[in-house]
Amino acid sequence: MTSSAHVPVLLEPVLEGLDIRDDGLYVDGTFGRGGHSRAILDRLGENGRLIAIDRDPAAIASAPERLTGDPRFELVRGEIAQLGRILAARNADGQVDGILLDLGVSSPQLDEAERGFSFLRDGPLDMRMDPDHGEAASDWLARVDERDLVRILRQYGEEREARRIARAIVTARARAPITRTTALADIVEAVVPRRDRKIHPATRTFQAIRIAINDELGQLEAALAASVDALRRGGRLCVISFHSLEDRLVKRFMRDASREPAQFRGMPSIPDAYRPKLRLVGKAIAASASEVEANVRARSARLRIAEKAV
Ligand SMILES: C[S@@+](CC[C@H](N)C(=O)[O-])C[C@H]1O[C@@H](n2cnc3c(N)ncnc32)[C@H](O)[C@@H]1O
Repeated sequence: MTSSAHVPVLLEPVLEGLDIRDDGLYVDGTFGRGGHSRAILDRLGENGRLIAIDRDPAAIASAPERLTGDPRFELVRGEIAQLGRILAARNADGQVDGILLDLGVSSPQLDEAERGFSFLRDGPLDMRMDPDHGEAASDWLARVDERDLVRILRQYGEEREARRIARAIVTARARAPITRTTALADIVEAVVPRRDRKIHPATRTFQAIRIAINDELGQLEAALAASVDALRRGGRLCVISFHSLEDRLVKRFMRDASREPAQFRGMPSIPDAYRPKLRLVGKAIAASASEVEANVRARSARLRIAEKAV
């Protein structure tokens, strides 16, 4: 584990953004190692409540007794796309005071070679956040159509060399299955020139495959929509993203949900059903230079905050 394993990103702005009331109900949709959850609980009084969710069984198993034994806290194994169902089962839909989504992978997921997320560590090419469901990256790579692979590398990895990489993968898999992280990293490195000494040429390929395998953007879209319904009026939604694709999606979602529909713009009154559901709270927040120095994961983090308006 790296030293950043337990350091929650943008902690102070998140706590401020959630505008924590000591008897409020909060949701941490991405528990990870509980960095943010712990800090939220510390701010809650006796009657406050925190429901945390993670799809990774290792994250669930990591929660210490100090958290799991706390009567104000509940940890649920599940997907954030299922937020509505998870809350409805607890009679809490529409009553939440604040929701945090700290997206992407956790440091332990990246650091453990066996999870297959890292091109720097040799391990089975898996990349599933929930290893009990879905398809491992190696199985997916063995069957994906070359054109689909090009599209995914372009869209999810913003990879300019998508065609060359997809060709190299398809050629390599015809010789032998690609089952190890380092094997995939080597295939990419052989065809993509290293432009930047600091960024490994396989970075974008791994990001793209991880996003596809875990349906990360589909999960995010569903989670954003469910979050708006889950909040009570005045409740806060805080989303931390780690790459431009995610951030764009969050930005557009919040912008669209905070605008009056075109047909009512400029009108003196708008029917309730058409009132904007969110109000933007400030602009995107990035980590300070000192936070980035202490925790490199914070480098690309962007926090966006919105408040439920109706
Ligand atoms: C960046 S980490 C969160 C770190 C956490 N805030 C902390 O301070 O320890 C993201 C976590 O969210 C989980 N996760 C990502 N996408 C998810 C989803 N769609 N549903 C449920 N959990 C998800 C991952 O398994 C991972 O543990």
